[in-house]
Amino acid sequence: MGLFDRFKTKKIEGVDDTMYLTLREERRITKENTKIIKEFERQKNRKHVTEAEYLTQMRDPSNVVEFDNLHTYFFTEVGTVKAVNGVSFDIPQGKIVGVVGESGCGKSVTSLSLMQLVQAPQGQIADGSIRYQAGNGKCYDITKMPKDQMLKIRGKEIAMIFQEPMTSLNPVFRIGEQMDEVVLLHVEGATAESAKARSIEMLNLVGIADEEKIYKNYPHELSGGMRQRVMIAMALACDPRLIIADEPTTALDVTIQAQILELLRNVKDKINGSIMLITHDLGVIAEMADNVVVMYAGRIIEQGTVHEIFKEPKHPYTIGLMKSKPGGKLKEDRLYSIKGQVPNPINMPDFCYFCNRCDHAMNICSKEYPNMVKFSPDHLTACHLYYGEGLQEQNQKRMQNNQSEGKE
Ligand SMILES: Nc1ncnc2c1ncn2[C@@H]1O[C@H](COP(=O)(O)OP(=O)(O)OP(=O)(O)O)[C@@H](O)[C@H]1O
Ligand code: SF4
Ligand SMILES: [Mg+2]
Repeated sequence: MGLFDRFKTKKIEGVDDTMYLTLREERRITKENTKIIKEFERQKNRKHVTEAEYLTQMRDPSNVVEFDNLHTYFFTEVGTVKAVNGVSFDIPQGKIVGVVGESGCGKSVTSLSLMQLVQAPQGQIADGSIRYQAGNGKCYDITKMPKDQMLKIRGKEIAMIFQEPMTSLNPVFRIGEQMDEVVLLHVEGATAESAKARSIEMLNLVGIADEEKIYKNYPHELSGGMRQRVMIAMALACDPRLIIADEPTTALDVTIQAQILELLRNVKDKINGSIMLITHDLGVIAEMADNVVVMYAGRIIEQGTVHEIFKEPKHPYTIGLMKSKPGGKLKEDRLYSIKGQVPNPINMPDFCYFCNRCDHAMNICSKEYPNMVKFSPDHLTACHLYYGEGLQEQNQKRMQNNQSEGKE
């Protein structure tokens, strides 16, 4: 039983941020939150944790990461935001896994959970595990790893490239100083000279021609594309096994975008690493990814190989995403948009989250959350259209339509 489950019985009634919360209700929520958060933090800050407590086994040794029923929550004063609510998927060695979904669906929180960088104390991994195949041959459950051990992996074996490099680079230090620091921190026996040599080598690898000059520049002296190259060079400095790229090209113009994506693909092959590529842009996914994970309101609603997802998307949300992609085969002259909004993250329903926006919604859809249906070993979707009562209802509708068409 997860830690959060122990507190589940104490349901906080009347919590709904669409309604006015009285001071008393707010106080009650804060009190409950303090208790829950204290317990999570106590667990995380335990001293002398033995390795056996966070050692585990990969389900499939060809994976570098396995998310297994991950739940990451934010305990806010208006209620619990279930940002990631039971997410399971794998990142195979040497592959690019694209994670798509609309703003706020939990893409970044999933990746931050993997880095143990969720904004604490409000943000906590409430349940599930993240298995990571480390370079030393051991397999760790990151959700149980103590902070000091995580420091050995973060930045060295798992590196992150953020959307906006200007917020990640420190404006008061030269590029070289910031790059050297990464090498000095993570590479055993590194000296000032070897760190500089490595930084220059990495700048060169990411296609920066005058690397000696850039090494001495401040971040504001570089263009957006150059800064993103520097971020990639920094991420690569310690030969990571996995790169998390969270919207790496959103802040860049289209031509630079293409160059950066090409660069990412090349460096992945050079280091034989894996990439978790988070993006809104289906075009980027089609170009880059091997596998795709589609998220909606904190859960995975469809996953599969890029071929399967693009050739035959199954979930009405994924189908809508494909239709709303600019440059697609449009029959109409206007771009398709998915009507409606994501439900309130604090009061998620116990039935399909996409129900209020779905053109195919049936009776069952507003009663039960759909199970995952398998179309191939890799292709799965959570939708009532494809099994049980929902499938019967669909068939009946189809028969009725056929009959009425026959009569006409
Ligand atoms: N520090 C926080 N406190 C409270 N809620 C948070 C916090 N950080 C994220 N959330 C909530 O978690 C949910 C998931 O956020 P996340 O940043 O993962 O979305 P995303 O899919 O990365 O969106 P985007 O595409 O806009 O980057 C959102 O509902 C967000 O409001
Ligand atoms: S479960 Fe029902 S409402 Fe949800 S996506 Fe499928 S058809 Fe639409
Ligand atoms: Mg994000």
